[in-house]
Amino acid sequence: MIRTIYSENGAVCILNQNLLPAQVTYECVTDFRDLVRAIKELQVRGAPLIGVTAAYGIALAMDQAPLSDEEMDHYFEEITNSFASSRPTAVNLFWAIDRMTRLFESLRGRAHQDIQQRLWQEAENICAEDIATNQLIGEHGVPLLPVGARILTICNAGALATCGYGTALGVIRSAHLGNRVGQVWVCETRPVLQGARLTIWELMQDGLPVRLITDSMAASVMQQGQVDAIIAGADRIAANGDTANKIGTYALAVLARYHQVPFYIAAPLSTVDLMIDSGQGIPIEERNPDEVRQLGGIYVTVPEVAVYNPAFDVTPNSLITGIITEAGVIFPPYREELLRLKGE
Ligand code: MRU
Repeated sequence: MIRTIYSENGAVCILNQNLLPAQVTYECVTDFRDLVRAIKELQVRGAPLIGVTAAYGIALAMDQAPLSDEEMDHYFEEITNSFASSRPTAVNLFWAIDRMTRLFESLRGRAHQDIQQRLWQEAENICAEDIATNQLIGEHGVPLLPVGARILTICNAGALATCGYGTALGVIRSAHLGNRVGQVWVCETRPVLQGARLTIWELMQDGLPVRLITDSMAASVMQQGQVDAIIAGADRIAANGDTANKIGTYALAVLARYHQVPFYIAAPLSTVDLMIDSGQGIPIEERNPDEVRQLGGIYVTVPEVAVYNPAFDVTPNSLITGIITEAGVIFPPYREELLRLKGE
């Protein structure tokens, strides 16, 4: 299994995804600021993994926490603020920070060492739970697919976006284990090519029948009747089911409706944000214009051209056939089902 993150001898080690597929390089850091930077620069990316990285980062930083209670509280807040400002869209980041904060608050007054140990343990727990959750998502998703399914996906919602197995790719992996996958169409996912660089690499390691297309080819492949289902991940699902995911996902959902192809979102319940009523309230990250101006570090346009570079878009609930979670698959209308599954 691909490892995306782990702790070793008081350091946190991450697989630098910017170097994939050419190089498989783990970088071990002891300064939490290096993890904040790794999230911003997409060395680690994907909603669940961003959250797990913040959890490990908080534990790492607290190894250097000041001794007095008051100073420790202040220091904790500074660390969580710096992770919270790393990337705005994936709610799993804030979910993980909240979970670490609740634990920290419950440990007030305990010995320093005890607090540190419990925070490390919590980060490990979040990571282990993530893998178990993804396996359940995989299991629940399989019956939605026909035997020999030709599935189209975008970005990377796989082992590389999580602690292992993956969400959308978890479903595809489970279907492959049951011999149900005929073809996986992978959109390259401009601007930074998570599909071409990461999903292709990850699925080829497991021997899946992948085929790479540029994003603009998806319509034609669907028109030819070569897609049985689309499965995408999610960065944040609003209370009504509207879903933010990698830019280009919305276009696929529109195309899927036109071509009568089922469009599924696969995501853990930690990606559901009941505090946000609809997609309009989801903050969408805008990234460095050079991601669009360049390909592999080389300008493919006039270097000073004005650019719009939103990293995510929002797919309205009306275009989503079903949402595959660890607690089962839900169908529209989503609001009540999401409330029920989140237990609120
Ligand atoms: O910008 P990224 O690479 O972090 O975007 C990732 C995605 O959009 C994924 O589909 C999403 O986070 C789900 S990952 C299980």
